[in-house]
Amino acid sequence: MVARRLDKLEELKSIIQNNIDPNVNVIVCSSDLSITEQAYTLYNTLKEFQIETWINNAGLGEASFVADQNLDKVETMLRVNIESLTILSTLYVRDYADVEGTHLINVSSALGYAIAVGSVAYSASKYYVSAFTEGLAKELGA
Ligand SMILES: NC(=O)c1ccc[n+]([C@@H]2O[C@H](COP(=O)([O-])OP(=O)(O)OC[C@H]3O[C@@H](n4cnc5c(N)ncnc54)[C@H](OP(=O)(O)O)[C@@H]3O)[C@@H](O)[C@H]2O)c1
Repeated sequence: MVARRLDKLEELKSIIQNNIDPNVNVIVCSSDLSITEQAYTLYNTLKEFQIETWINNAGLGEASFVADQNLDKVETMLRVNIESLTILSTLYVRDYADVEGTHLINVSSALGYAIAVGSVAYSASKYYVSAFTEGLAKELGA
């Protein structure tokens, strides 16, 4: 499990081990996916594991009209929702496209299929996720 806040990840790890399965080996890793370099570092630190399913879930939105949007937040959103997702998907596919039974899951949104006025940049970022992921599935014949 990956996110920026290690304390929250540790909390979730305890919940899983105490309430679901004490034997499950949960590995937590702090990474800020709005920093492109960290996406590469994250992937490389996980090379020692055999990863059956990779899920790109981290994402954020900015709910405002384009003229009013906070550009710092929009830049961060584009780096997490688009850049890191693309880097991590690419690295995973390079290593696992030919490995039987592996899966890549990229979390889009209903707004990745319908333009949401008032959240246009978020919506556009999720259109990217939908198009990239569905296109990749076609490339892989999935
Ligand atoms: N909520 C909805 O209604 C909804 C609807 C459709 C689609 N989605 C999509 O579903 C996904 C999850 O949404 P959510 O509502 O569960 O979001 P959330 O509650 O805000 O959780 C986002 C998760 O991503 C992590 N994260 C955020 N920024 C990060 C960064 N820079 N680097 C690494 N990890 C980061 C957060 O942990 P840290 O803050 O500790 O990093 C958190 O674990 C997103 O892709 C979102 O676009 C959500």
